[in-house]
Amino acid sequence: MTAELISGTEIRKAILAEVKEEVEQMKEKTGKVPGLVTILVGSSPASISYVTLKVKTAISLGFHEIQDDQPEDISEEELLKLIDKYNNDPDIHGILVQLPLPKQIDDKKVLTAINPDKDVDAFHPVNVGRLMIGGEEAIFHPCTPAGIQEMIVRSGTETSGAEVVVVGRSNIVGKPIAMMMAQKGVGANSTVTIVHTRTKDLAAHCLRADILIVAAGVPGLVKPEWIKPGSTVIDVGVNRIGMNEKTGKAILSGDVDFEAAKEICGKITPVPGGVGPMTIAMLMKNTLKSAKYALKV
Ligand code: GUN
Repeated sequence: MTAELISGTEIRKAILAEVKEEVEQMKEKTGKVPGLVTILVGSSPASISYVTLKVKTAISLGFHEIQDDQPEDISEEELLKLIDKYNNDPDIHGILVQLPLPKQIDDKKVLTAINPDKDVDAFHPVNVGRLMIGGEEAIFHPCTPAGIQEMIVRSGTETSGAEVVVVGRSNIVGKPIAMMMAQKGVGANSTVTIVHTRTKDLAAHCLRADILIVAAGVPGLVKPEWIKPGSTVIDVGVNRIGMNEKTGKAILSGDVDFEAAKEICGKITPVPGGVGPMTIAMLMKNTLKSAKYALKV
């Protein structure tokens, strides 16, 4: 039987509609809306395209949005001053500094300069710690793991007591999603295993997974014979495997052999159109949450 497709594009649409409605209610009640600043340093085409999408989405939801573009040669001191300005701006609830930053700037210094209560990327060590503690403490979850958990929940996959296997141990995806799935709470309470490049028998671990989350960055790493029949497969990989000569666009592939896997698992995310579209939706949700805390609504 062919698996049910978990569409990130559809789920994102639903989340953005929910956020928009909450923004309207907030405006009626308080006269205020969530405020997001996106700081872009330099002119890398990839960063420009990510930031443009974030800005457009924020505006479409009725956010107060500031796009603060800075030159490639901005000094670290100037950038830190700018962050301080937004830390102290009561109309700004979320501060996002687009990565990567130019060489003269220390990423860590910049990310730790952001007020953790406005850190909607959830990259600040305080928010990494809060995520580890869990519950009410974890105000913001990083956007990609938050999107993954939302897809698992909205696809109706049971997580309580489920065997979750996470392939990959990055700070941005593998480690946080593993911790989130192991916490107490809705969409969690799972038994979690993290596997990585030094794991002895990847296939045996994956085969046990009721929920298999793959964030390895290796196209086609997960073979169909590693997949438990009826399981839910979340493919976080976005690998460029070639170029469509007619359209000039990159051909993308996930970390899972999708065509074969979909004949075995119960539910699966496609690439593209799976986890990718969720990240910006979760950024908007984090900004709304931050504004709700600040405005006490
Ligand atoms: N660069 C690529 N992805 C991201 C992201 O999620 N947040 C930030 N701040 N920079 C990025």
